[in-house]
Amino acid sequence: MEQPVVVSKEQNGQELFYPSPDVINAAWIKDYETLYRQSLEDPQGFWAERAEELEWFHKWDKVLDDSNPPFYKWFVGGKTNIVYNALDRHMHTYRKNKLALIWEGEPGDKRTYSYFALNREVCKFANVLRSMGVKKGDIVTIYLPRIPEQVIAMLACAKIGAPHSVVYGGFSVEALAERIEDAHSRVLITADGGWLRGKIVPLKEIADEAMSRQPTIEACIVVRRAGQDIYMEPGRDFWYHDLMSLPISSNSCPTEVMDAEDPLFILYTSGTTGRPKGVLHTHGGYMVYIYTTLKYVFDIKDEDRWWCAADPGWITGHSYIVYAPLLNGATSFMYEGAPNHPYPNRWWRMIEHYGITILYTAPTAIRGLMRYGDNWANRHDLSSLRLLGSVGEPINPEAWRWYYNVIGKRQCPIMDTWWQTETGGFMITPLPITPLKPGSATRPFFGIDVDVVDEHGRPTPNGEEGYLVIKKPWPGMLRTIYRDPERYKSQYWGKFGHLYQTGDSARKDQDGYIWVIGRMDDVIKVSGYRLGTAEVESALVSHPDVAEAAAIGLPHEIKGNAIHTYVILRAGVEKSDKLVEELRNHVAHEIGPIARPESITFMDSLPKTRSGKIMRRLLRARALGLPEGDISTLEE
Ligand code: WT7
Repeated sequence: MEQPVVVSKEQNGQELFYPSPDVINAAWIKDYETLYRQSLEDPQGFWAERAEELEWFHKWDKVLDDSNPPFYKWFVGGKTNIVYNALDRHMHTYRKNKLALIWEGEPGDKRTYSYFALNREVCKFANVLRSMGVKKGDIVTIYLPRIPEQVIAMLACAKIGAPHSVVYGGFSVEALAERIEDAHSRVLITADGGWLRGKIVPLKEIADEAMSRQPTIEACIVVRRAGQDIYMEPGRDFWYHDLMSLPISSNSCPTEVMDAEDPLFILYTSGTTGRPKGVLHTHGGYMVYIYTTLKYVFDIKDEDRWWCAADPGWITGHSYIVYAPLLNGATSFMYEGAPNHPYPNRWWRMIEHYGITILYTAPTAIRGLMRYGDNWANRHDLSSLRLLGSVGEPINPEAWRWYYNVIGKRQCPIMDTWWQTETGGFMITPLPITPLKPGSATRPFFGIDVDVVDEHGRPTPNGEEGYLVIKKPWPGMLRTIYRDPERYKSQYWGKFGHLYQTGDSARKDQDGYIWVIGRMDDVIKVSGYRLGTAEVESALVSHPDVAEAAAIGLPHEIKGNAIHTYVILRAGVEKSDKLVEELRNHVAHEIGPIARPESITFMDSLPKTRSGKIMRRLLRARALGLPEGDISTLEE
């Protein structure tokens, strides 16, 4: 065994993992404290300097406009396009011939794209979209598996100023339909299928059903991926490869000049109540933010091969598969399928094969692979790795240690990054130079002012749990909830007014380290995926046999949390195991397999407050055998 590069020391009874001098010497940032202090004293100066590293058609007049909180604007008056910085500008440098994207499909097929080739495909597809009448400001819905066309489609939309709304390929009919409806999309991009665990996910079939529920779609572009026999509606459905071979799809296409504050995309995410909300991000501030965070946190260098093992359908993929690596001119790897297909060494084999230097994934994936033991990983040469990352939920110390010891061989610091769809990029995170405490996302990123506060917005003493809040605006923040600015205000700024409310609880320790505990609202993180109890409940209630339903999250060894549901059946409906299965499948059909409830318990009544709200807290306490707490509002 090699010497550990990272040494651990005890401090206040807590184990600290120090990065080695080699790691520190290689890092972009060598002194966190000084730069952090400066960045808080003068955030606008800090962000303006970072923005200077990118290209602007016209420079901003003002870094931050905070005259109308919470509707902040960044780089006001600036003109740019994120795709200009992600692709166009590299065409004039050596990066033109550098690999932008390395891709492997689940069945083992491989593709690579240089920056030149990726730019060409994006130009061609942008021309296709323009020829179909897609204009600046039109929202295009993308529902694809994890294939290069997903990256191409997103960039093509951004290039012509059409905000994209990507719907995760693991979502199903109702989830897709309601997103299409909210965005009023006229164009949908999908595929004949995608590979997952050796099977084909029938995306086009799901899309057909969603389109029949939401008939706003006038044109559906279909990528041939799985070679499936599918239904193609004449006049509405077009094959991607047919369109890409038409003369309209020439290799060059002008990049639309965008205002810094023009929308780049909306991405739907689950909140406390009702339907998913369309989180809106922009070309300017988002671009500067994710470019900077990836560069400093994962210390991206030209020789790196970066693998963010998320899906482009979630914010992690938007920011750190698609946009930030390209903004940094990096080489990025993307894999279509399941980590354990056909064997549990799939990931480790690919790390060895492609020489991956940085792996960024979620605790649930680590726990899932950990259960197969060390040998699957030990059989492979993982020495190309120099940094590891984690995101999505708090990482339990056991998984942290396995990741650190078995995958990183005690050579690779783990960047545990806390952030949200709404924040655009990393917010609380170590840098490669930060002493690590397993389970803590450590310290805030530059320019990010976080705190833990009580009910009244007052900072809690160290060690005490409270609301995790952010005290100053930052360039990557969401600008609004699409078509619902009131909800933006109330959801994020309603409780404390001037403090952005994350929805998470946390505590600080004596070193200023932040320990995120989890969601305080009705959001459940299942395998790192974010789902709302309300969505699961409304899927259940949409079944003809169900009168009422309640969903809660309970701890699960691999998934972190699993969904458990309580159902009141309509009068006259017989309880049966068959019905339990049917209801579980119904939820999977409506929302997606990730939402399939772990359990369904039939009830005669549900605990409710006198005002009629389901007391999920009480259901959780009962399920876990915990004290019921304050039940004074419980209806008799
Ligand atoms: C919620 C946001 C941001 C990318 C993926 C999730 C939880 C995220 C961590 C972490 C503890 C984390 C929080 C947050 N979360 N990263 N490193 N440690 N909790 O984005 O789907 O918008 O979910 O994920 O609860 O609020 P998202």
